[in-house]
Amino acid sequence: MPISKEYIQDLHDRADIEEVISSYVSLKRTGRNLKGLCPFHSEKTASFTVFPDTKSFYCFGCQASGDVISFVMRMDNLDYVDAVKSLASRFGMAMPDEGYDDSFSKLRMRILSANREAARFFNSQLYVPENKKALEYFAKRGLTKQTITHFGLGYAPDDWRALLNHLRSLGYTEQELVLANLAVRSNKNGKTNVYDSFRNRIMFPILDLRGNVVAFGGRVMDDSKPKYINTADTPVYKKGSGIFALNFAKNSAEKKLILVEGYMDVITLHQAGITNAVACLGTAFTQEQASLLSRYAEELYVCYDNDAAGKNATKKALQALDKTGLKVKVVRMEDGKDADEIVRTSGKLKFLEFINKANNETEYRLSEELGKHNVMTDDGKAKYLIAAAEILAECNPIERDIYAQRLANEFNVSKESIMIQASSAARRLGRRRAQEKEKEITKISVKNFEDKNNPERKANLRAANAEETLIASLMRNPDFYREIKGEFTPDDFVTAFNRRVITCLIELIEGNYSTDLSMFAQDFSPGELDSIGRIYIKSGNLANTVKECRDCIGVLKNSSGVGQQDARNMTDEEFLNAVNKLRKREEK
Ligand code: UTP
Ligand code: MN
Repeated sequence: MPISKEYIQDLHDRADIEEVISSYVSLKRTGRNLKGLCPFHSEKTASFTVFPDTKSFYCFGCQASGDVISFVMRMDNLDYVDAVKSLASRFGMAMPDEGYDDSFSKLRMRILSANREAARFFNSQLYVPENKKALEYFAKRGLTKQTITHFGLGYAPDDWRALLNHLRSLGYTEQELVLANLAVRSNKNGKTNVYDSFRNRIMFPILDLRGNVVAFGGRVMDDSKPKYINTADTPVYKKGSGIFALNFAKNSAEKKLILVEGYMDVITLHQAGITNAVACLGTAFTQEQASLLSRYAEELYVCYDNDAAGKNATKKALQALDKTGLKVKVVRMEDGKDADEIVRTSGKLKFLEFINKANNETEYRLSEELGKHNVMTDDGKAKYLIAAAEILAECNPIERDIYAQRLANEFNVSKESIMIQASSAARRLGRRRAQEKEKEITKISVKNFEDKNNPERKANLRAANAEETLIASLMRNPDFYREIKGEFTPDDFVTAFNRRVITCLIELIEGNYSTDLSMFAQDFSPGELDSIGRIYIKSGNLANTVKECRDCIGVLKNSSGVGQQDARNMTDEEFLNAVNKLRKREEK
């Protein structure tokens, strides 16, 4: 049974959306509404809007939308019931204590607690005499007992069922341990076998920002492969979303973070007192990680290994970071050494020297480019300067001036020629960007006709628009319903998704509940709420009259959907053309 509508309505009245969202996103007031940088996609100008009147949010950039509950679901990666619980406790409400389906929420709690027990177990195994090689390994890598405890490091014994047996004795089921990815189930010759995921590895627990153990990394102690095994996706962990040690580094005083490659780099740096170091787990650096970092820092030092893999990773990270507005610097360390080695062999001060010498993005790219050319020859010099001009083309005019001057001095050419080259590169770049933008706009406008939650929309555009206008108008003006009640039923709706929305809406109106977006959160997933939010946003541009509603009902009664099915097979361009033609016909 779901949580009662009364309870949810009460929660919405008390859980101030402005206050909740402000604790994640910095918002500025504009008129009745508030704006900020969208937490769900990377952007430099604020298009994320909070509407206190309707207790909802909407992003004009990525179209994310929802209410206070779905906001918390997304930000904290919670399911519906957990988000309700978290808001209820924050705003001092008792939980409705029976009847609701919280099986998923219970499973997550079980997994988190199994993970915590596992971390304890792995740590305790370090002090078992027969496992002393693990402790020796940490000692060899210069870690102190204190550091081991601080990071909760451990050892997974060389045994197929050590952890399994331990956690089973504490009451966890095999099923729970498999779902937590602490154990693996395999089927061989019709026989099922369950065994520990991590064996004979030193263990690094991964904590989220609230201190939950959400995953593990396990490293071999020799050169065997794979070097690391990491927890796969589970109900409490998604690869590419976490940042190692951000739970410790997030409060860094100067809002500066140092991004290094691996677990060991982070741990050694923290041990040396550089406690603002973090690492992205796994190889790829995701947009999600970039925007998470930008929430806790203003400046980021990218400090990857100075080898081919590290350079490649730097390039990708710079691209993802470009959209966050973070001030980025690139640290170049000695060849073949990672942060961990530098601190251990040359000391903390040496590492800080590298940090202080960090380059901004332009300097970094210029020097990377320089390495590719033999500038001792005229030909090589010319090629380098042409490539350098491409890099300068992306800078602002002041930066361009400064670096053109530097290059001119360094290579004994005139600054003017570099500026001319850079300007023409900038024009080409501008044209290319304009083309890309054009393509993007085509895509976006096609996207406006498509809706992943309502696959029938594109092929039934006219009917779907009428449905959505009716829904939007009734959400804003629920009292209209009394007047038009007898004139339509949900069965008149052509698209199944909108039919579900209107059914739910009518239920709310008839029950005298509020028709806020939030009231849909129980019957629709957060992803589906985006579509309802998009529909609701329309009401700002509507006449909001009963007559408008009646017109929509008229369209629905007359729409057969015939002859529109082809749209599904059209390319984006064909489709846009067809729509434009239709529009012109209607304007005549
Ligand atoms: P590194 O190979 O540089 O490892 O991988 P490291 O952390 O410096 O470890 P040491 O110093 O050799 O002991 C960098 C990071 O990439 C991820 C891990 O997060 C690792 O810390 N990685 C690496 C994996 O996830 N799997 C692998 O097989 C290798
Ligand atoms: Mn290393």
